[in-house]
Amino acid sequence: MAFLKPKEDTAAQVDFDHLPRHVAIIMDGNGRWAKRRGLPRTAGHAAGAETFRTIATYCKNIGLDYLTVYAFSTENWKRPLEEVSAIMGLLKKYLLESIEKMERDQIRLHFFGDLSPLPAELREMCGRTDAISQRYDGMQVNVCLNYGGRDEIVRAARAFAADCAAGKTTPEQLTEEGFSQYLYSAGVPDPDLVIRPSGEIRISNFLLWQSAYAEFYYTDVLWPDFSKEELHKALAAYQGRSRRFGGV
Ligand code: IPE
Ligand code: IPE
Ligand code: MG
Repeated sequence: MAFLKPKEDTAAQVDFDHLPRHVAIIMDGNGRWAKRRGLPRTAGHAAGAETFRTIATYCKNIGLDYLTVYAFSTENWKRPLEEVSAIMGLLKKYLLESIEKMERDQIRLHFFGDLSPLPAELREMCGRTDAISQRYDGMQVNVCLNYGGRDEIVRAARAFAADCAAGKTTPEQLTEEGFSQYLYSAGVPDPDLVIRPSGEIRISNFLLWQSAYAEFYYTDVLWPDFSKEELHKALAAYQGRSRRFGGV
């Protein structure tokens, strides 16, 4: 007689009283997810957007303070125009729906990246979302849009140099903490855990400065298939790590 294997209780492996404060996710694998189903890549992005909604809500419910997601990199402009336009369209749709639900969800949306090359309507929506978010104090979700870690550092260096030129500060006064304040992430604690689905084991220009001591977790699961169970596995793995920060 065959026995059904009981479904693994992934939640039981997580200590919900000691969660990381800040989780960051490289939402990768949408294209492959679609290809495996014989669908256009854009269908994968639509499915990925739904996963984002589910995971962000769950992260809020379990009490995370910060969630940062990589939605579009400074390198993603290399993709076919059709795909880029579809992603921009999905972002617009998502933001519009989020604005309506913000009061109920109490999720604050914030953006990391250079928004200036984005379509005007989308840019305007990001501004509106950001403004509404100021009224709430729930979990902060940072959406990385036209974001690149190197670009962020170069911009910070430029802004610091400009402050020096304006006589507001001097090179000698610069500290790591001080430099952090010029980054998109100013005021946000560094990510404790960076998750990358889709089987790729690389950072792809994500939070280069901020992830200096982040724990890294990767899984072969593609982002549209990522679930609460997968998040539990990542959190449990994180809780099993010994973070030494260079000490013993
Ligand atoms: C991540 O999924 C979404 C973006 C980069 C915008 P991909 O589109 O990179 O999916 P794969 O890696 O091709 O499967
Ligand atoms: C990283 O994924 C960017 C996002 C998920 C938004 P990519 O698919 O662009 O990264 P590579 O090309 O595999 O390094
Ligand atoms: Mg990819």
